[in-house]
Amino acid sequence: MKSFLEPFRIKAVESIKVTSREERESIIKNAFYNTFLIPAENVLIDLLTDSGTSAMSAKQWAAMMDGDESYAGARSFFNFEKVVSEIFGFKYILPVHQGRAAERILFSMVLSNIDENGRYINTGEGKCIPSNNHFDTTRANIEFNGAEAIDLVIEEGKKPDIIHPFKGNMDISKLKKLIKERGRENIPICMLTITNNTGGGQPVSMENIRDVSKVCKENGIPFFLDACRFAENAYFIKMREKGYENKSIIEICNEMFSYADGCTMSAKKDAFANIGGFIAMNDENWYINCRNLLIITEGYITYGGLAGRDMDAIAQGLREVIDENYLKYRIESVKYIGDLFLENDIPIIKPVGGHAVYIDAKTFLPHIPQVQFPAHSLVCELYIEGGIRAVEIGSIMFGKYDSNGNMIPADMELVRLAIPRRVYTKSHIEYVVEIIKEVKKKRDKIKGYKIVEEPKFLRHFTAKFKPL
Ligand code: F0G
Repeated sequence: MKSFLEPFRIKAVESIKVTSREERESIIKNAFYNTFLIPAENVLIDLLTDSGTSAMSAKQWAAMMDGDESYAGARSFFNFEKVVSEIFGFKYILPVHQGRAAERILFSMVLSNIDENGRYINTGEGKCIPSNNHFDTTRANIEFNGAEAIDLVIEEGKKPDIIHPFKGNMDISKLKKLIKERGRENIPICMLTITNNTGGGQPVSMENIRDVSKVCKENGIPFFLDACRFAENAYFIKMREKGYENKSIIEICNEMFSYADGCTMSAKKDAFANIGGFIAMNDENWYINCRNLLIITEGYITYGGLAGRDMDAIAQGLREVIDENYLKYRIESVKYIGDLFLENDIPIIKPVGGHAVYIDAKTFLPHIPQVQFPAHSLVCELYIEGGIRAVEIGSIMFGKYDSNGNMIPADMELVRLAIPRRVYTKSHIEYVVEIIKEVKKKRDKIKGYKIVEEPKFLRHFTAKFKPL
């Protein structure tokens, strides 16, 4: 069956403001051509992120009413802890306000020592942390602690056109080589992102998770999964990996996490929550260290910066996301957009990933050199043409400067259209396809951009641009 069915019906709606092209031209100019700086009410279809943008279910809202707001030992924490431990299987679970808080705690811990006065001394210098691809906040948290974030995704994962069932896999030989070159003592932890957001929302196979785990174990390197989109990854394993066809999603999840020593999780993705996350692990000493860091900036160990009701929403969301009917709808509806793009000769990363469609802007706008940010140009054009907000994942997000101040571009110039969970219908999606077709007709006239102001970290959020 080509068609797919949303396994839910709509109970509450939110209206969308319709703007004209002229209005949008002025809105984006006032936002310094940075779509992060556009007030959201001026966006028609918001595909900026699938993070914190899900529609919650009636059961999640009901669970929120039942939230226990006690400071310590709230019932909501135990509900949350029970579901997290059933799916993820780790011994120790700490709630945090979102994924990057988990990252900050984890990397502050592994990239520091505590002196005799109880002070943290940063030890990041000379250390490196491998992953398939680090997400931008993960990378920033590592670099902020003085260490190097290294991407070891398989070569296929860097080529938009190559079809491979698990393009998010880490290259095991590159991992072994890195350990040999840098020394095990300089690699305090190894990460693996499932699904691999930066590389196109591409899944990682069970075999690869197992292999990375084995290499880490042999070298005494702790291994953590960045688990934001774990259920989508599990569904791909069920669909694509031999031996998993007849396993349930929860069985696949249990196995994935059994190979890791812990995970960081942003509940804003696969847990359908608007805020929240956690860090989980098996090692008691690490837990004690993380707990200290959590209390200093996030909150007490049974709420970690969340309200009780948030933890209940996450617990219920986690139960819902491992439903195979939902995952089938999710993965097939994202693929539907990708298929329509391909039918209209819009170059995208193939095969389509779990949470987003990624347009290959290098191919779509070949006349714009990377130093003029072709993916950013396309993001601006989608907004001006149709009020669609997408995000650049290219040289603005991941480009660097060499010692002479020249730009080192990113491997790929992508425009990510992230699909919020349970939010948009097929007609919204068809509108997006109409707009991209319009943009395509005029693509030769689209110009590049230059940066006029930028911060030191995570510049894509606040940098200001000018059209060339
Ligand atoms: N790891 C991955 C793979 C992510 O995609 C994100 C967030 C994070 C960590 C950080 O989580 O936002 O809760 O602090 N990704 C969002 C996105 C922002 O749009 O892809 P957070």
